[in-house]
Amino acid sequence: MTQDSQHDLTDTLERMGLLHPGETYRVETLPGGVSSDILCITLPGRSPTLSFCFKRALAKLKVAADWRAPVERNHAEVEWMRVAEALAPGSVPRILGEDVQAGAFAMEYLAPAAHPVWKSELRDGNIHTETAAAVANAIAAIHAGTARRADFAKRFANDHIFYPIRLEPYLLATAARHPDCAARLRELAETTARTKLALVHGDLSPKNILVSAHGPILLDAECAWYGDPAFDLAFCLNHMLLKCLWRPQWRERYLACYDALASNYLERVNWEPPAAIEARVAHLLPGLFLGRVDGKSPAEYLSEEKDKERVRRVARNYLLRPVERLATLRDAWNTELEGA
Ligand SMILES: Nc1ncnc2c1ncn2[C@@H]1O[C@H](COP(=O)(O)OP(=O)(O)OP(=O)(O)O)[C@@H](O)[C@H]1O
Ligand SMILES: [Mg+2]
Repeated sequence: MTQDSQHDLTDTLERMGLLHPGETYRVETLPGGVSSDILCITLPGRSPTLSFCFKRALAKLKVAADWRAPVERNHAEVEWMRVAEALAPGSVPRILGEDVQAGAFAMEYLAPAAHPVWKSELRDGNIHTETAAAVANAIAAIHAGTARRADFAKRFANDHIFYPIRLEPYLLATAARHPDCAARLRELAETTARTKLALVHGDLSPKNILVSAHGPILLDAECAWYGDPAFDLAFCLNHMLLKCLWRPQWRERYLACYDALASNYLERVNWEPPAAIEARVAHLLPGLFLGRVDGKSPAEYLSEEKDKERVRRVARNYLLRPVERLATLRDAWNTELEGA
């Protein structure tokens, strides 16, 4: 960290009331953090020693593609966490302070030994449908508690954030690489953009979920947006499909997590007919699936061309011939991989 940014950090922490003037602290950069500085701050002078997590939005994401997003997304994340804590208690870290001007906030630090990232657990074979079910329950509670509410719609009117960091890089950038699916991908982006039903997390990926003894902890809600809740379920299901290529030996277990996510979520849908949202998820999922290969944020573990071709084959088929049921997509992917 430069001297300037260290100075800014000290100011911000003092403004939040987390640091006494002149107090010393240690800074450790946490892994991940494509779009933000994410730090563990330790105050050795406190008894017992105090550690917390500090997150500050960067103006430009650290990825190759040009993918800018306003730093106010940091405030959207904090606001989302406040709502999540109220509707699904214990599903997010406790907020300790916020500096809206700096685009930064502090939250409780959840030590990795007791709170592993779900993505690492999935990679290492610690694959439990209970975790998937609990993620579904938490996100469904947040969707149900905010559904058809003008107050939340106003508070999270974040189209200007959601569009550049979700719809454009995943669906529209992919359309540019697949001319025959382009009209369908653009239609999906438009339908998603104009469906205003509930508070969406926007980045419900296993890398943004910690697993604790008390259930999953959801992180990284910078894309929080009042819009189509189908996006969250489709986004998370997409990861369960993709993981089958990362660790092929555990395909059945990833697909069991897919089923647990889908069934637990759909059981809790009370703001619209479950079949209606299931159909939107089933329409969106092939777009997001293809987006992870040919969009602006490709899954880093998909390096083999034959794996990418498998995703393209299934995704393109269901973009051009949409289905309404999530089980149809799961079965199609399973069949594609059985022949592998
Ligand atoms: N409260 C916390 N306690 C402990 N670790 C945390 C906490 N918040 C985040 N982390 C760690 O930091 C990583 C990055 O956090 P987060 O996803 O919020 O940042 P980001 O910059 O938006 O990341 P990315 O763009 O890579 O998804 C998490 O995967 C997790 O390992
Ligand atoms: Mg993250």
